[in-house]
Amino acid sequence: METITIHIRPSYNVHIGYNILENFPQILDVVSNVKISKKALFFIITDKNVARHYLVPLKNSLRKYGYNTKHVVLRPGEKLKSPGKLFRLLQLMVKKGVNRDSVVVNLGGGVIGDLGGFAAAIYMRGCRLMQVPTTLLAQVDSSIGGKVGINLPEGKNLVGSFYNPMFVLSDLSTLSTLQEREIVSGLAEIIKSGLIFHRPLYEKIKNLFCSAASRDNIRIPAFEVKTLLLKNREFLQEAVSRSVNIKGEIIKQDERESNLRMILNFGHTFGHAVEKITRYRRFLHGEAVMLGMQMATELSMLQNMIDSQTGEEILTLLRLFQIPFAKRLSTRNIYKQIGIDKKKREGKVAYILLKEPGYAVAEKDISRKKVYTCVDRILSFYKGMQEKFSGK
Ligand SMILES: NC(=O)c1ccc[n+]([C@@H]2O[C@H](COP(=O)([O-])OP(=O)(O)OC[C@H]3O[C@@H](n4cnc5c(N)ncnc54)[C@H](O)[C@@H]3O)[C@@H](O)[C@H]2O)c1
Repeated sequence: METITIHIRPSYNVHIGYNILENFPQILDVVSNVKISKKALFFIITDKNVARHYLVPLKNSLRKYGYNTKHVVLRPGEKLKSPGKLFRLLQLMVKKGVNRDSVVVNLGGGVIGDLGGFAAAIYMRGCRLMQVPTTLLAQVDSSIGGKVGINLPEGKNLVGSFYNPMFVLSDLSTLSTLQEREIVSGLAEIIKSGLIFHRPLYEKIKNLFCSAASRDNIRIPAFEVKTLLLKNREFLQEAVSRSVNIKGEIIKQDERESNLRMILNFGHTFGHAVEKITRYRRFLHGEAVMLGMQMATELSMLQNMIDSQTGEEILTLLRLFQIPFAKRLSTRNIYKQIGIDKKKREGKVAYILLKEPGYAVAEKDISRKKVYTCVDRILSFYKGMQEKFSGK
């Protein structure tokens, strides 16, 4: 097991390892030295898919250690992040006797983490929060950094706050039951971490996946990506730990998302546009980011920031993974959507570009022509692939 301390105030530990869920209270008490009174109630928030496998082991471990537990099992999906569901959850917390001494434990992916985290942030003006992320995306990204919140009909993540957990436990064994596409989605954020901040991580990912792809097998099916990651246990542990470390380092220097934290948006400016245009239905978040990172890499080459050989190598890696495509994606609507994206700063969009693997910068002065060209190139590539495989 690896322990990473996120150095913000107050700091908290993230524990990453295999089969550690059953030892939740011991790790909390003995390893992390977080002392919780035996009178405190642990209120576990989870969803049906996760509860099926992991609720009983977590509850049993807490009970064996002498803690009281209660739980709620919600219906999975992004719809949970709504004002109606949030208020119902808060009312249920009253009914179940959750108070300011209680501990809210989010057991699940980013949806549970965001919803339960926001509930913990506002319930009785804030109660203690612990995250037990069970998707790869949540383990490497959403459980770290303290962003919690819900959606409004007007847009995603429009209501929320910064509220840090006091403890995070990422059991990599839980990934064995996760759907393959969700694994690819989380992997995109790991690749992003390497590309923006840590070249050795990027090189390791490249070696693992490029050697796994046979010459004619241009794309690695999602089930193979999952098999490969679960088989290479040390690699997975290192990749998750490194990504957490990177996010921790970045938010330590820039907790409230002003400058440095912007580089975490590599691939996201384009990716968010793709998600919005396809109404959050066609692409998982990481899949859209995988496409967005290709556009950002292409733009980095057009801006002469990164040399074309390295840029092409990055594109080759990103194209190994199977992601969806949608006919409604056009250069024009992606550009238009970026324009109305909330990441607009001082009237200009900040594009995160690569100078080299492991080194990203924010760039505001980019011509419309260049953005058009890079989006066009990537969309043409995927259109070409689609035609090839549909036999046109
Ligand atoms: N707070 C942040 O900083 C941040 C960052 C990125 C994304 N997010 C948010 O995260 C959400 C997406 O999170 P996600 O990708 O984890 O999706 P998710 O929480 O919807 O989980 C994906 C699916 O996998 C299931 N699942 C989860 N763990 C499982 C397991 N171990 N075994 C079997 N099934 C399992 C869930 O029930 C769900 O059906 C979005 O709402 C996004 O806005 C937040």
